[in-house]
Amino acid sequence: AEQKATNVTWHDHRVTKEERCKQNGHKGAVLWFTGLSGSGKSTIANTVDHKLFEMGKHTFVLDGDNIRMGLNKNLGFSPEDRTENIRRIGEVSKLYTDAGILVMTAFISPYLEDRDQVREIMGEGEFIEVLVQASLETCEERDPKGLYKKARAGEIKGFTGIDAPYEAPEKPELVLDSDAKGIDELADEVVAYLESKGYLT
Ligand code: PPS
Repeated sequence: AEQKATNVTWHDHRVTKEERCKQNGHKGAVLWFTGLSGSGKSTIANTVDHKLFEMGKHTFVLDGDNIRMGLNKNLGFSPEDRTENIRRIGEVSKLYTDAGILVMTAFISPYLEDRDQVREIMGEGEFIEVLVQASLETCEERDPKGLYKKARAGEIKGFTGIDAPYEAPEKPELVLDSDAKGIDELADEVVAYLESKGYLT
Protein backbone atom coordinates (compact mmCIF):
# COMPACT_ATOMS: atom_id res chain seq x y z
CA ALA A 1 0.00 0.00 0.00
CA GLU A 2 1.01 3.55 -0.62
CA GLN A 3 2.64 5.53 2.17
CA LYS A 4 0.22 7.96 3.78
CA ALA A 5 2.43 9.90 6.15
CA THR A 6 4.34 12.92 4.91
CA ASN A 7 7.28 14.70 6.57
CA VAL A 8 8.83 11.48 7.82
CA THR A 9 12.55 10.79 7.52
CA TRP A 10 14.33 7.44 7.67
CA HIS A 11 16.93 7.27 10.45
CA ASP A 12 19.92 5.01 10.01
CA HIS A 13 20.89 3.04 13.09
CA ARG A 14 24.20 3.80 14.74
CA VAL A 15 24.72 0.11 15.51
CA THR A 16 24.55 -1.80 12.22
CA LYS A 17 22.86 -5.12 11.62
CA GLU A 18 26.29 -6.61 10.85
CA GLU A 19 27.63 -5.49 14.23
CA ARG A 20 24.64 -6.99 16.01
CA CYS A 21 25.07 -10.31 14.19
CA LYS A 22 28.78 -10.36 15.00
CA GLN A 23 28.06 -9.87 18.69
CA ASN A 24 25.25 -12.46 18.66
CA GLY A 25 27.37 -15.00 16.80
CA HIS A 26 24.64 -15.76 14.25
CA LYS A 27 22.59 -14.15 11.48
CA GLY A 28 19.17 -12.53 11.72
CA ALA A 29 16.55 -14.06 9.43
CA VAL A 30 12.94 -15.16 9.28
CA LEU A 31 11.89 -18.77 8.96
CA TRP A 32 8.50 -18.32 7.34
CA PHE A 33 6.43 -21.45 8.00
CA THR A 34 3.39 -21.77 5.74
CA GLY A 35 0.78 -24.50 5.47
CA LEU A 36 -2.77 -25.54 6.21
CA SER A 37 -4.36 -25.24 9.63
CA GLY A 38 -3.30 -28.31 11.57
CA SER A 39 -0.24 -28.97 9.38
CA GLY A 40 2.06 -28.45 12.37
CA LYS A 41 3.45 -24.96 11.71
CA SER A 42 3.26 -23.69 15.29
CA THR A 43 4.46 -26.88 16.92
CA ILE A 44 7.44 -27.20 14.60
CA ALA A 45 8.29 -23.49 14.90
CA ASN A 46 8.20 -23.72 18.69
CA THR A 47 10.38 -26.84 18.68
CA VAL A 48 12.93 -25.18 16.39
CA ASP A 49 12.79 -22.14 18.68
CA HIS A 50 13.50 -24.31 21.71
CA LYS A 51 16.41 -26.12 20.03
CA LEU A 52 18.02 -22.86 18.87
CA PHE A 53 17.45 -21.26 22.27
CA GLU A 54 19.23 -24.18 23.93
CA MET A 55 22.11 -23.58 21.51
CA GLY A 56 22.32 -20.03 22.82
CA LYS A 57 20.79 -18.32 19.78
CA HIS A 58 18.55 -15.26 19.95
CA THR A 59 15.17 -16.36 18.65
CA PHE A 60 11.46 -15.59 18.78
CA VAL A 61 8.20 -17.09 17.49
CA LEU A 62 5.36 -15.07 15.99
CA ASP A 63 2.28 -17.23 16.03
CA GLY A 64 -1.06 -16.93 14.21
CA ASP A 65 -3.53 -17.14 17.05
CA ASN A 66 -1.42 -15.03 19.42
CA ILE A 67 -0.84 -12.15 16.99
CA ARG A 68 -4.53 -12.17 16.15
CA MET A 69 -5.29 -11.49 19.83
CA GLY A 70 -3.08 -8.39 19.91
CA LEU A 71 -1.44 -6.53 17.04
CA ASN A 72 -3.94 -7.87 14.48
CA LYS A 73 -7.08 -8.18 16.56
CA ASN A 74 -8.91 -5.87 14.15
CA LEU A 75 -8.44 -8.36 11.28
CA GLY A 76 -10.62 -11.30 10.25
CA PHE A 77 -10.21 -13.95 7.56
CA SER A 78 -11.42 -12.20 4.42
CA PRO A 79 -8.82 -12.21 1.61
CA GLU A 80 -8.09 -8.50 2.27
CA ASP A 81 -7.65 -9.03 6.01
CA ARG A 82 -5.37 -12.04 5.50
CA THR A 83 -3.24 -9.93 3.17
CA GLU A 84 -3.01 -7.15 5.77
CA ASN A 85 -2.29 -9.74 8.48
CA ILE A 86 0.67 -11.06 6.50
CA ARG A 87 1.89 -7.58 5.56
CA ARG A 88 2.08 -6.54 9.22
CA ILE A 89 3.74 -9.80 10.28
CA GLY A 90 6.21 -9.30 7.46
CA GLU A 91 7.12 -5.83 8.71
CA VAL A 92 7.44 -7.08 12.29
CA SER A 93 9.64 -9.95 11.09
CA LYS A 94 11.84 -7.46 9.30
CA LEU A 95 12.27 -5.47 12.51
CA TYR A 96 13.26 -8.62 14.39
CA THR A 97 15.66 -9.59 11.62
CA ASP A 98 17.24 -6.13 11.66
CA ALA A 99 17.65 -6.57 15.42
CA GLY A 100 19.73 -9.69 14.66
CA ILE A 101 17.15 -12.23 15.77
CA LEU A 102 16.17 -15.53 14.19
CA VAL A 103 12.41 -15.22 14.00
CA MET A 104 9.97 -18.00 13.23
CA THR A 105 6.51 -17.15 11.92
CA ALA A 106 3.63 -19.63 11.95
CA PHE A 107 0.80 -18.30 9.77
CA ILE A 108 -1.22 -20.09 7.13
CA SER A 109 -0.30 -17.22 4.78
CA PRO A 110 -2.36 -18.77 1.99
CA TYR A 111 -1.52 -16.33 -0.78
CA LEU A 112 1.64 -16.68 -2.84
CA GLU A 113 1.72 -12.99 -3.65
CA ASP A 114 1.53 -11.96 0.02
CA ARG A 115 4.48 -14.19 0.91
CA ASP A 116 6.46 -12.94 -2.09
CA GLN A 117 5.78 -9.40 -0.92
CA VAL A 118 7.39 -10.22 2.43
CA ARG A 119 10.33 -11.85 0.65
CA GLU A 120 10.68 -8.62 -1.31
CA ILE A 121 11.06 -6.34 1.74
CA MET A 122 13.62 -8.65 3.39
CA GLY A 123 17.34 -8.61 2.58
CA GLU A 124 19.01 -11.29 0.46
CA GLY A 125 18.91 -14.65 2.23
CA GLU A 126 16.87 -13.29 5.12
CA PHE A 127 13.58 -14.89 4.07
CA ILE A 128 13.49 -18.66 4.42
CA GLU A 129 10.19 -20.05 3.20
CA VAL A 130 9.31 -23.34 4.85
CA LEU A 131 6.39 -25.32 3.46
CA VAL A 132 4.85 -27.51 6.11
CA GLN A 133 3.44 -30.15 3.80
CA ALA A 134 0.46 -32.11 5.10
CA SER A 135 -2.51 -33.31 3.09
CA LEU A 136 -5.94 -31.91 3.82
CA GLU A 137 -6.91 -35.44 4.91
CA THR A 138 -4.17 -35.48 7.53
CA CYS A 139 -5.06 -32.01 8.81
CA GLU A 140 -8.74 -32.83 8.98
CA GLU A 141 -8.04 -36.01 10.84
CA ARG A 142 -5.89 -34.15 13.38
CA ASP A 143 -8.34 -31.26 13.65
CA PRO A 144 -6.78 -30.09 16.96
CA LYS A 145 -9.25 -27.23 17.44
CA GLY A 146 -12.29 -28.87 15.88
CA LEU A 147 -12.37 -26.15 13.20
CA TYR A 148 -12.51 -28.45 10.16
CA LYS A 149 -15.55 -30.11 11.65
CA LYS A 150 -17.20 -26.72 12.06
CA ALA A 151 -16.18 -25.67 8.53
CA ARG A 152 -17.65 -28.87 7.06
CA ALA A 153 -20.84 -28.22 9.00
CA GLY A 154 -20.99 -24.72 7.50
CA GLU A 155 -20.45 -23.05 10.87
CA ILE A 156 -17.25 -21.35 9.68
CA LYS A 157 -17.26 -19.72 6.24
CA GLY A 158 -14.10 -19.25 4.20
CA PHE A 159 -11.99 -21.83 5.97
CA THR A 160 -8.63 -22.48 4.32
CA GLY A 161 -8.58 -25.77 2.41
CA ILE A 162 -12.36 -26.17 2.60
CA ASP A 163 -13.91 -23.11 0.97
CA ALA A 164 -10.95 -20.74 0.90
CA PRO A 165 -7.75 -21.27 -1.13
CA TYR A 166 -4.27 -22.31 -0.07
CA GLU A 167 -1.57 -21.49 -2.61
CA ALA A 168 1.51 -23.60 -1.90
CA PRO A 169 4.90 -22.01 -2.56
CA GLU A 170 6.54 -22.88 -5.87
CA LYS A 171 10.14 -22.64 -4.73
CA PRO A 172 10.29 -22.85 -0.93
CA GLU A 173 13.74 -23.04 0.62
CA LEU A 174 12.55 -26.04 2.64
CA VAL A 175 9.73 -28.59 2.46
CA LEU A 176 8.83 -30.48 5.61
CA ASP A 177 6.95 -33.74 5.17
CA SER A 178 4.53 -33.47 8.05
CA ASP A 179 2.42 -36.38 6.72
CA ALA A 180 5.23 -38.85 7.26
CA LYS A 181 7.59 -37.43 9.87
CA GLY A 182 7.34 -36.38 13.49
CA ILE A 183 7.83 -32.93 14.97
CA ASP A 184 11.29 -33.53 16.41
CA GLU A 185 12.71 -34.96 13.19
CA LEU A 186 11.31 -32.03 11.17
CA ALA A 187 12.66 -29.48 13.64
CA ASP A 188 16.10 -31.13 13.31
CA GLU A 189 15.85 -30.75 9.52
CA VAL A 190 15.29 -27.02 9.95
CA VAL A 191 18.23 -26.62 12.33
CA ALA A 192 20.44 -28.66 9.94
CA TYR A 193 19.41 -26.36 7.09
CA LEU A 194 20.33 -23.26 9.09
CA GLU A 195 23.65 -24.80 10.03
CA SER A 196 24.51 -25.85 6.46
CA LYS A 197 23.72 -22.40 5.08
CA GLY A 198 25.81 -20.58 7.67
CA TYR A 199 22.99 -18.87 9.57
CA LEU A 200 24.18 -20.10 12.95
CA THR A 201 27.69 -18.62 12.85
S1 PPS B 1 -3.82 -16.29 7.67
O1 PPS B 1 -4.59 -16.92 6.60
O2 PPS B 1 -2.37 -16.47 7.48
O3 PPS B 1 -4.16 -14.87 7.79
O4 PPS B 1 -4.25 -17.05 9.00
P1 PPS B 1 -3.52 -17.09 10.43
O5 PPS B 1 -3.27 -15.71 10.94
O6 PPS B 1 -2.36 -18.01 10.37
O7 PPS B 1 -4.65 -17.72 11.35
C1 PPS B 1 -5.01 -19.06 11.18
C2 PPS B 1 -5.62 -19.63 12.46
O8 PPS B 1 -6.90 -19.03 12.70
C3 PPS B 1 -7.89 -20.01 12.94
N1 PPS B 1 -8.96 -19.76 11.96
C4 PPS B 1 -8.93 -19.93 10.62
N2 PPS B 1 -8.01 -20.45 9.77
C5 PPS B 1 -8.31 -20.46 8.45
N3 PPS B 1 -9.46 -20.04 7.90
C6 PPS B 1 -10.43 -19.52 8.72
N4 PPS B 1 -11.59 -19.09 8.20
C7 PPS B 1 -10.18 -19.46 10.13
N5 PPS B 1 -10.90 -19.03 11.20
C8 PPS B 1 -10.15 -19.22 12.28
C9 PPS B 1 -7.24 -21.34 12.88
O9 PPS B 1 -7.18 -21.80 14.20
C10 PPS B 1 -5.84 -21.11 12.35
O10 PPS B 1 -4.89 -21.73 13.19
P2 PPS B 1 -3.70 -22.70 12.74
O11 PPS B 1 -2.63 -22.45 13.75
O12 PPS B 1 -3.24 -22.35 11.35
O13 PPS B 1 -4.24 -24.07 12.86
